[in-house]
Amino acid sequence: MAVSKGSEPWILMVTARSPTNIAVIKYWGKRDETLILPINDSISVTLDPDHLCTTTTVAVSPAFDSDRMWLNGKEISLSGGRYQSCLREIRRRAGDVEDEKKGIRIRKVDWERLRVHIASYNNFPTAAGLASSAAGFACLAFALAKLMNIKEENGELSSIARQGSGSACRSLYGGFVKWVMGNDASGHDSIAVQLANESHWDDLVIIIAVVSSQQKETSSTAGMRESFDTSTLLHYRSKVVVPRRILQMEEAIRNRDFQSFARLTCADSNQFHAVCLDTSPPIFYMNDTSRRIINCVERWNQFEGTPQVAYTYDAGPNAVLIARNRTAASLLLKRLLFYFPPSPDTELTSYLLGDKSILEEAGLQTMKDVENLQAPPEIKGGISVDKNYGSVSYFICTRPGRGPTLVVDEDQALIDPRTGIPK
Ligand code: DP6
Repeated sequence: MAVSKGSEPWILMVTARSPTNIAVIKYWGKRDETLILPINDSISVTLDPDHLCTTTTVAVSPAFDSDRMWLNGKEISLSGGRYQSCLREIRRRAGDVEDEKKGIRIRKVDWERLRVHIASYNNFPTAAGLASSAAGFACLAFALAKLMNIKEENGELSSIARQGSGSACRSLYGGFVKWVMGNDASGHDSIAVQLANESHWDDLVIIIAVVSSQQKETSSTAGMRESFDTSTLLHYRSKVVVPRRILQMEEAIRNRDFQSFARLTCADSNQFHAVCLDTSPPIFYMNDTSRRIINCVERWNQFEGTPQVAYTYDAGPNAVLIARNRTAASLLLKRLLFYFPPSPDTELTSYLLGDKSILEEAGLQTMKDVENLQAPPEIKGGISVDKNYGSVSYFICTRPGRGPTLVVDEDQALIDPRTGIPK
C-alpha cells in the first residue's frame, strides 16, 4: 500500500483550470449512448479560460473512505454512469507517483483502492447554459491524469473526458479543435485533435449574450436522443452536410478566411436549430431575443456587404457572436447595447463581463453613453426600432484561448490540505 514518511496521514493534491468551448460545426446525435460516440465530426473554438473556466482540485489520501465530489461548494453524487466511466478509465491508466518532498510514494496498483476527493468551481453561473459540463469533465480528466501520473498518448485523455460529456473532449485543447467521430465500436479513435492553437487567429473577438430565460430547457443529452429517433434532417445532415462542412471549415480556419468561417458557422447553427424543429415533439432552444440578435447581425452583415460577425447558438437561447476583429467587436457591442440595453439601475461594468477594455474602444464609459447611442446606419429608412430592455442578462467579451493548465500556487487549491474537504 501507499507509504509515507512517519505516521502522519497525508494528502496529495493537484489543481487545474480548463476552458469551455463553442462548437462552430455542431455535435448532435450519438451512435453509442454509453461510450458517447457521435454520428458526425464537430469543430469548436476554445474560449479564453481567463473569462470562462472551471477550476478543479483533486486530492488523494489513505484517510479517504469514498470518492466524493463538490461542485460550486455543494456535494454532488458521483454514482452516475458518466462520472463512474471517467473515474474507472482514469484509474486503469494510473502510474507510479512519487513526491519526494512530502515523502509519499503511490504504486500503480494502489490507485484501485485509494479514494479521491474532487472540488470543482465555475467562474461563471452554472445555470447560465455556458457549456459548464464541457469545462467540468475536461478539467476532471486533466487534473486526475496529473495526480495519477498518466502518460497521455493519442488524445486518450480526450476520449476519457468524452465519456463524461461529448463536447468536453474538445476542451482539452486550446484554439481550434476537431472532435473526430472515429469508426471503432470501442471508441478509442473518437478523440479530439487541435487544428490550430489560440494564437493562429488572434484577431477574433467573441461576445456572448447571456439571454434571460424562464423556460426549462431540454438537456442536450435528451434533445439529441429525441432528434436521433425522430428527425430525418439530422441523419441527412450527419451523412451529407457535415462531412463537407468540416472540410470547408478546416480550410477557412487554416486560411483565417473570416467570410467562409462566418458563413459556415451561421449556417451550421441554423441547421442544428432546424433539426431541433424537425424533432418530434419539436424542441425550441432559441427564443425571441435569440432571433432578434440574429436579425441584428444579419442586417449589419448585409449592409457591410461582407460578414463582420458570425453567430452560433447551442442548446439554449444564449448567442455566441464571433467578430472578425476588435474594430468589428466594438461596433457590434454598440449595436447590442443599442438594441438590448440593461434594465434601469444596472451598472455598465456589471452588464459587460470578461474583457472590459472593449467598452473603452467603443467609446462607452457610462450608462449615459449607452443611452445616447444612435441607431446603426443599416436601420435608417423606415425600419422601426424596438429596444429590448432587460432581455439580455449580461454580455461577456472574450477571445479564443488556451487549453487546460495546472495551477501551481497551492493557496489556490479548492480543498483544505488538512481536512481533505473544500475550503
Ligand atoms: C449543442 O456534450 O452537452 O452544444 O454528450 O450528452 O453530454 P452529451 O451532450 P453535450 O452536447 C453538446 C451539444 C451542443 C453542440 C456541441 O457542443 O457540439
